[in-house]
Amino acid sequence: MTLRQIDTIEELRAILDRERRREATIGFVPTMGFLHDGHASLMRAANAANDLVVASIFVNPLQFGANEDLASYPRDLERDTEIAADAGVDLLFVPSVDEMYPHGAVSTSVRVDELARRWEGATRPTHFAGMATVVTKLFWIVGACRAYFGEKDFQQLAIIRRFVADLSIPVEVIGCPIARAEDGLALSSRNTYLEPAERQAATVLSRTLEAAATAIEKGERDPIVVAELMAAMVATEPLARLDYAACVDPATLDVPERIDAPCRLLIAAQVGRPRLIDNLGVSCE
Ligand code: PAJ
Repeated sequence: MTLRQIDTIEELRAILDRERRREATIGFVPTMGFLHDGHASLMRAANAANDLVVASIFVNPLQFGANEDLASYPRDLERDTEIAADAGVDLLFVPSVDEMYPHGAVSTSVRVDELARRWEGATRPTHFAGMATVVTKLFWIVGACRAYFGEKDFQQLAIIRRFVADLSIPVEVIGCPIARAEDGLALSSRNTYLEPAERQAATVLSRTLEAAATAIEKGERDPIVVAELMAAMVATEPLARLDYAACVDPATLDVPERIDAPCRLLIAAQVGRPRLIDNLGVSCE
């Protein structure tokens, strides 16, 4: 099957209902476009495990704060279509803002409490409710499916798992590993904002995560000491400004008393114009 672009909810629902009646399994990859190999890796995973792959491209205004980059968020539908087709996407859902929000502002939204307040939520207070609302809408539009998300946005993935469980949404959520550039930088649509010197400096995030993982592997068990080590390493890079660095429980995102179970290292920093995030899982045997 060659890739087909679908712009309306009604048309997508009609096709997917028909496919489900034939017992086809559906893999779904929601994105905001400007695709890179991280997105493509999710599409390939969906293609390997399902009969039909749907991807969506929708730059969701609800999840951008007033001072964020909604207007300038990079877009290139022609290139995205090629990347999606190569990665095995059958249906590319590209709704307009009017199609998704016909009444303008929504008066119903999905808000996840505890998990959404800290880390990214601390500096982006409306972001996760906007994300959870659009992902819930997309799940209602696509229907029962397996949905693929990157561990790159680790807190987002934890929140999605939580509201899917809380609201009994018939979607199986699958987390996929982070795709990185050769020098370790996690791929991100926002990397295009980096000037050459900043692009070099941005590797401080993945280098810091690796150094902290090594410290834990060598026996460090205090999450505060690990966080301080990360902060000190980011401070050596003049073009980077740390937002947070932490060692957390992978399910609750709480900082444990002691590191005595597998944990997740989280980091966020401003490097030039973009604010970048990254994370790494560490088992502590
Ligand atoms: P976006 O940033 O476009 O990301 C779409 C999906 O690609 C997310 O699941 C994200 O975690 C994954 N992804 C991004 N970079 C990745 C990388 N380097 N390796 C692996 N996966 C990566 O996340 C969103 O859009 C939006 O919040 C969305 C879920 C679509 C809701 O609007």
